[in-house]
Amino acid sequence: MKVLLVNGSSHRNGGTVHSLKIVEAALNESGVDTEWFQLGARPVRGCIDCRKCAETFRCTFNDDVCNALIEAMIASDGVIIGTPVYFASANGALTAVLDRVFYAASTHGRLFTGKPAAAVASFYRSGGNNAVDRISKYFAFSGMPIVTSSYWNLMFAPESFVPNDEMGRMTMVQLGKNMAEMLKKLRQDAWRHPC
Ligand SMILES: Cc1cc2nc3c(=O)[nH]c(=O)nc-3n(C[C@H](O)[C@H](O)[C@H](O)COP(=O)(O)O)c2cc1C
Repeated sequence: MKVLLVNGSSHRNGGTVHSLKIVEAALNESGVDTEWFQLGARPVRGCIDCRKCAETFRCTFNDDVCNALIEAMIASDGVIIGTPVYFASANGALTAVLDRVFYAASTHGRLFTGKPAAAVASFYRSGGNNAVDRISKYFAFSGMPIVTSSYWNLMFAPESFVPNDEMGRMTMVQLGKNMAEMLKKLRQDAWRHPC
């Protein structure tokens, strides 16, 4: 079983990765493998509603990370998308890509239905709940079970207003455990109902 960790920041080792690494450790300790996907710092497009994806379930534009992210999500059993908080919501570059990922693969293809998913947000001071809600909309639309923790999936960045966010750390650990648990239950159910 493999969970895809999507770093929705241009920083390869910033606050978002700091939070996702804690989730990763909990997943790995629970016997679940992980793979990383970096949004990166190169330019990305937004959706232009050309609807070419209705036939291919992929974006017609191949000049950024969009289609690689679709393939990585298809190949994973679960997905966790991390975002830095920008102006009290998710990073615009990330949502530009996700609009295309989900319009192609989900609106038209329903390729992610049944795949458990969660969003986490890293921030300096506030706005994390909006960011998590924004990303979770993609999952809800797509029929992807949303994995929860023991609190909202938020964590202050190490260089922030609360540098040692112990409650955020515990929330990330619990999220990893809950994702692992859900994946194991889904696998058991698949064995029980092979048809
Ligand atoms: C354009 C921009 C807007 C930001 N807006 C917010 C904000 O509204 N609230 C907040 O707490 N932090 C805000 N931040 C700070 C980032 O959320 C914070 O530094 C985050 O941990 C960055 O994650 P990263 O290191 O993975 O990129 C903003 C940063 C940038 C660059």
